Amino acid sequence: MADTTAKLNVGGTDQEYSVLDGSIGPSVVNIASLYKDTGMFTYDPGFTSTASCESKITYIDGDEGTLLYRGYPIDQLADHGDFLETCYLLLYGDLPNKAEKNDFVDRVTYHTMIHEQMSRFFSGFRRDAHPMAIMVGTVGALAAFYHDSTDISDPHQRMIASLRMIAKMPTIAAMAYKYHVGQPFVYPRNDLDYSANFLRMCFSVPCEEYKVNPVLARAMDRIFILHADHEQNASTSTVRLAGSSGANPFACIAAGIACLWGPAHGGANEAALNMLSEIGSVDRIPEFVARAKDKNDPFRLMGFGHRVYKNYDPRAKIMQKTCHEVLGELGIKDDPLLDIAMELEKIALNDPYFVEKKLYPNIDFYSGITLRALGFPTTMFTVLFALARTVGWIAQWKEMVEDPSQRIGRPRQLYTGSPKRDYTPIEQR
Ligand code: SDX
Repeated sequence: MADTTAKLNVGGTDQEYSVLDGSIGPSVVNIASLYKDTGMFTYDPGFTSTASCESKITYIDGDEGTLLYRGYPIDQLADHGDFLETCYLLLYGDLPNKAEKNDFVDRVTYHTMIHEQMSRFFSGFRRDAHPMAIMVGTVGALAAFYHDSTDISDPHQRMIASLRMIAKMPTIAAMAYKYHVGQPFVYPRNDLDYSANFLRMCFSVPCEEYKVNPVLARAMDRIFILHADHEQNASTSTVRLAGSSGANPFACIAAGIACLWGPAHGGANEAALNMLSEIGSVDRIPEFVARAKDKNDPFRLMGFGHRVYKNYDPRAKIMQKTCHEVLGELGIKDDPLLDIAMELEKIALNDPYFVEKKLYPNIDFYSGITLRALGFPTTMFTVLFALARTVGWIAQWKEMVEDPSQRIGRPRQLYTGSPKRDYTPIEQR
């Protein structure tokens, strides 16, 4: 860390704070003692200029449109790796050799079943319950099955909890889908790889053999890689904050799922596809672009813009390529929604409003079209995002728990409410 300092004059008194340099990316001003020194808090709603932690897992350069998992560019991992290898990388910090990879795959494979009692949770939901509501409930319920065996101070227990989460999310997600469509649950198979297993658990039925399409399984696996982690986004920050109290990791992941559900975050893939359907035809695009620019209209182009990326989201490029691959493999020559998406992208990228605000397509812009082509209903899109992001959440949770400097997260506030006042009896009000 550098020994440079930042000077701040507060109320006529000069304060000095150390500047800490990362390995790459912006340095930080360590203002931890600011309140003690000045009696003031910093103020940064939305945390646009605030680093909440030190991390070695994921690096994003929003201006360059760069995304690195443990230093490896996302496009290289998506092109050459697979999802479980990426999970190993995020959890352990390096790519596995062959023996490590085989051992990790085996350890995940033999945790894919869930307690048979859990299948009863689903029957408590209405069949038309949103699958994300089911995910929040059932993943949180995992804590009831593993609470006693999850001593988070034990590194071995932390790794088992991590493996359980990664292994069981596809099974729970597939069960949420099967329950939603009224079909019987399908058990995981140990002879299938992670993504093929997931597609089979979602789409096979007892009446016939299900043959996994390797091109679609590879596309699913790549989509999971793209969604695996993304620095301190809203849902990851939620998991870290929940975990900072020492809460059960399964409960922390349930909190992350709840946060991801919002349309400004992971819910944007479902919202983006619904938006494309609402636009309905290329000639209505100008009308919606005008609405997105109108300050008085809450409408936004879903799948566009990003807090960090002020360039093209590198994941969106890979997702667009995957979208064309999947549509090609399925023989879908002209998907009207894809035509609308590509025309909307072209118009938006040349519109001064979007150019000056640096609004580009993000990962959610093309994912909806791809997932729909794979056979998923829009209500499952964010479930798939949560499935993939679980490894990122759990890797960040582990890093937080293992950080000797971590303390319970407890932000302060700028209070603008009523000063102290005395209670008045109701007769006097
Ligand atoms: C994800 O954080 C992550 O890393 C998240 C994620 C991950 O992997 O975890 O990348 C996943 O959540 C991707 C983002 C998915 N959300 C959407 O696609 C929803 C649509 N996008 C917007 O809601 C918005 O862009 C956000 C929420 C993504 C970012 O919001 P910010 O950073 O708070 O930006 P902002 O809302 O302050 O917007 C800046 C300006 C505003 O105009 P002004 O007030 O400055 O005049 O840009 C405008 C906004 O009105 N703007 C948009 C817009 N997004 C921002 N205008 C039209 N359409 C949009 N989509």
